Amino acid sequence: MRSEESDVGADSGVIPADAGVGDVCDEEVATVREILVDVPTAKEGVIPALQDVQEAYGYLPKFTMELIAEHTGTSMAHVYGTASFYSQFHMEPRGDHTIKVCTGTACHVKGADEVSEAFCDELDVDLEEVTDDGQFTVDHVRCIGACSLAVAVMVGDEVYGDVQPDEVDEVIEEYR
Ligand code: FES
Repeated sequence: MRSEESDVGADSGVIPADAGVGDVCDEEVATVREILVDVPTAKEGVIPALQDVQEAYGYLPKFTMELIAEHTGTSMAHVYGTASFYSQFHMEPRGDHTIKVCTGTACHVKGADEVSEAFCDELDVDLEEVTDDGQFTVDHVRCIGACSLAVAVMVGDEVYGDVQPDEVDEVIEEYR
């Protein structure tokens, strides 16, 4: 098993996914408005806004999408539709560490499904679920450009290659 540096990051959030603007405190609203301050107040600002907010919260609670709709002069339906369309956006809280198992062709052929299952079994979660301690989420990702390392797994900035089902506990231990 090898690991390599990459610049993909991960974060987490604790606000319920369905919390609307009326459910959160003024400070939280002000925080999002501050994040959006440099984002264009037009439709083309929606994707940058979603990216900036997700970077801060780790996912997109409902109230942030409401504020993005207001800021960009679009609708909640448009913001929600955009966020749903792109797999990079998450509308549910994530664990502190997202374990991304590549299921691209090369990794699939080398047993990505078994590796993914092993992570879920070891952590006692379903795919995309957060562990009880809030530490981990297991997710699938399409080719991360490390096909020669199949099965490739990414955790935060780190890429692990040649991952076997019986090695998943070693990866998890690094982040506990
Ligand atoms: S298919 Fe997994 S890294 Fe390319």
